[in-house]
Amino acid sequence: MRLDALLSRYGYCSRREATGWLKRHQVTYNNKLCTKATDKVEADGILIDGEKLDFPNGIYIALYKPLGYVCSHDESEGDLVYDLLPFQWTKRNPAIASVGRLDKETSGLLLITDDGQFIHRMTSPKHLVEKVYLAETEADIPASAVELFAEGSLTLQGENKPCAPAKLDILSPRVCKLTLTEGKYHQVRRMLAAVGAPVSKLSRIAIGALSLDNLQLEEGEWIEIDPHLF
Ligand code: URA
Repeated sequence: MRLDALLSRYGYCSRREATGWLKRHQVTYNNKLCTKATDKVEADGILIDGEKLDFPNGIYIALYKPLGYVCSHDESEGDLVYDLLPFQWTKRNPAIASVGRLDKETSGLLLITDDGQFIHRMTSPKHLVEKVYLAETEADIPASAVELFAEGSLTLQGENKPCAPAKLDILSPRVCKLTLTEGKYHQVRRMLAAVGAPVSKLSRIAIGALSLDNLQLEEGEWIEIDPHLF
């Protein structure tokens, strides 16, 4: 591909800016200096100011989303989860996006990628990836909710289909783990509110084989993941 297309693909500058940008940066392809925006190159042999490209074959990361950040590209909504990542990644084309969303007031594991097919596969109802949430509630969680959630007979307000079967582990009267295979809007909060136990604190602690524990992530940190794990 042309060098200007590559620089824009990986978020360094726009195609239009490439000529000016090349005056301020050193780009080599297979150890030869590139001087023109029209030079023909491939991602693998490129060094930019001596560094390889980040994720030349697509970004797949797990981020520990802190409370207060939104899964949106719209700055007017507040602090964005993308603000926690290197700026250049946010300028890539195709753009990075989260795999599903966590509410502003939910923390925990969030996958981010620039691979639209991966997002589609991960969010498809046919692809049953388990997502585990840890919730604290404002009232005691009724034991009857375990069976109600497990049999998949709870229909949330405004929905025309019941929630898929979900596993509820009551860890203490007001703390539970809820494992879902789908991602309806505010699903955990709505399910627990429906059984009289509104959520006061919520975190997603695992997606499939990945968990905050085994990734050893701290809030705000990210790590590369293998998309073939799912
Ligand atoms: N369920 C919710 O209610 N909120 C989230 O952020 C994720 C699942």
